[in-house]
Amino acid sequence: MTRSTEGLSPELHAYVVEHSEPVDEVLADLAEETARLFPDHRGMQIGPEQGAFTTMLTRICGAREVVEIGTFTGYSSICFARGLPEDGRLLALDVSEEWTSVARRYWERAGVADRITLRLGPALESLRELPGEPRFDLAFVDADKEGYVGYWEELVPRVRPGGLILADNTLSHGRVVDRENTSAAVRGIRDFNDRLVSDERVTQVLLPIGDGLTLARKR
Ligand SMILES: C[S@@+](CC[C@H](N)C(=O)[O-])C[C@H]1O[C@@H](n2cnc3c(N)ncnc32)[C@H](O)[C@@H]1O
Repeated sequence: MTRSTEGLSPELHAYVVEHSEPVDEVLADLAEETARLFPDHRGMQIGPEQGAFTTMLTRICGAREVVEIGTFTGYSSICFARGLPEDGRLLALDVSEEWTSVARRYWERAGVADRITLRLGPALESLRELPGEPRFDLAFVDADKEGYVGYWEELVPRVRPGGLILADNTLSHGRVVDRENTSAAVRGIRDFNDRLVSDERVTQVLLPIGDGLTLARKR
């Protein structure tokens, strides 16, 4: 199975997953294949409870246009795409041809390939190439942690008022409160979390799901 929510015992995590929308065969196979092909990176995938949550959130907010920064082998993109209406669109941004080639196969299997456009390249550049006006109903940030503040500044103007921005790993496995940890990734997350608190354009909540999932709503 993929990543668990921080601080939950394995038993309690299993209970949470068993009492949420079930993980279907496509996502289960994707998690298994990712673990087999890329054992050192399997923890990058969002966990099953986050997947169920993101599909439901996409539906609740009626999103039609979603952008994802950090696609990897496709788990989260399938969860977002499944929450979209037939004519909804997901723009997936990543740098890795190798990892996203797995995603492409699973998009076909999940029947959502026609809703997803993949753009390969540094996500900051891809975002800057997009028109600057509000367009997205929902954005998801799950790439290099040092880049979060930069992604934020490009995303906020491109999300419509009332739209949502989700960011993963905002607890950094608890390292955000370990002041002795000054790694670039942890500093990136701390800077991001602090930036949101002082950003008048949004309201936000840091949900302790997975490794911390921040949900911000543009005013
Ligand atoms: C944590 S994984 C994403 C996991 C994915 N959301 C899922 O649930 O399976 C991070 C991804 O960000 C991508 N990435 C890292 N730096 C990037 C950058 N500068 N621009 C675009 N993608 C980047 C990596 O290639 C990797 O696939």
